[in-house]
Amino acid sequence: MGREKHEKGADRESESSEKGNENRITKDELVEKAIEKLEKEEIDEIAKLPGVGEKTAEKLKNSGYVDMMALAAAGINELADAASLGSETAAKIIEAARRKLKMGFEPASEVLKRRQKIGKITTGSKNLDALLGGGVESQAITEFHGAFGSGKSQLAHQLAVNVQLPLEQGGQAGKAVFIDTEQTFRPERIMDMAKALGLDPQEALENVFVARAYNSDHQMLLIEKAEEIIRNNNVKLIVIDSLTSTFRSDYTGRGTLADRQQKLNRHLHRLQRLADVHNIVVYVTNQVMSRPDILFGDPTAPIGGHIVGHQATYRVYLRKSKGEKRIAKLIDSPNLPEGETIFRVSLEGVRDSEEE
Ligand SMILES: Nc1ncnc2c1ncn2[C@@H]1O[C@H](COP(=O)(O)OP(=O)(O)O)[C@@H](O)[C@H]1O
Ligand SMILES: [Mg+2]
Repeated sequence: MGREKHEKGADRESESSEKGNENRITKDELVEKAIEKLEKEEIDEIAKLPGVGEKTAEKLKNSGYVDMMALAAAGINELADAASLGSETAAKIIEAARRKLKMGFEPASEVLKRRQKIGKITTGSKNLDALLGGGVESQAITEFHGAFGSGKSQLAHQLAVNVQLPLEQGGQAGKAVFIDTEQTFRPERIMDMAKALGLDPQEALENVFVARAYNSDHQMLLIEKAEEIIRNNNVKLIVIDSLTSTFRSDYTGRGTLADRQQKLNRHLHRLQRLADVHNIVVYVTNQVMSRPDILFGDPTAPIGGHIVGHQATYRVYLRKSKGEKRIAKLIDSPNLPEGETIFRVSLEGVRDSEEE
């Protein structure tokens, strides 16, 4: 019994057979309830916007506009059509949502003030830091993609340790939220890496809040939950390892690709907002899929296509080289040149490669 809920979380076949399918069901239900509650809260907020009211909020909800961000990003005609509103009303609602989210014009000096607060976390390798313009940056989403074993998760662990270092050692004297979607988080690695830096391994563990996401809805919910933890705990880093695997397994088949992309887009929007509002670093990993249609060059491409491409501020492609060596290639950045560097992954963690 209890198998029927299985298809929802079919992403983790090997793991789910181990224990507690019953436990899983209650968890599914809990997640669904929590999502309902969050949506309800968001819809209540929408109803409070000037010129909306409960009836219109309900209309908006029924046409799929369940959060403020979706409204703020909507086009006037699109919204008017979808929720059968007059275009004047639609424009007013969009404007109100934007004001609510404080979207709109601001003096460039405000932008500069915010950018001056940008913090960086060292990767552990000076060369990799240099490639990224001095480390992994706050107020931005940094994506590392690459094949299995290329070092994405090792760097995730390393950043969760390094964020704890004082500023002068390349840290942010803060804590980490680690969302593990592939069951590859290892506390032992946190301890190894902390020891190698002279940090107390036990303390290092206490400073990393870990959650497993077992489907894409759950993953999105965890980000909402993370906001609470971030507010109360001096969190300076969010890791999602990996960003796309739950989306990939929840949305198989071509018909649902557009839905998947739309949801992934929403997820990334929320991550960017967390990064901005709380001035934190967001590091996400991504798998690559093979592209048999590519005849020349590298026949792989990151999952999530241009959605992730647009939303990630920095994108790095990781490749395995000989032994501990890894090659990192910066492929997308608003203010840095494309480039390549070599680092290594050892027992101590991410380090510079001795010979280059
Ligand atoms: N304890 C360790 N000591 C040294 N190297 C390790 C250790 N754990 C993992 N690694 C290295 O990290 C690699 C796995 O990298 P990982 O970050 O998990 O890849 P992925 O890109 O798939 O997330 C291993 O192949 C190994 O080279
Ligand atoms: Mg991994």
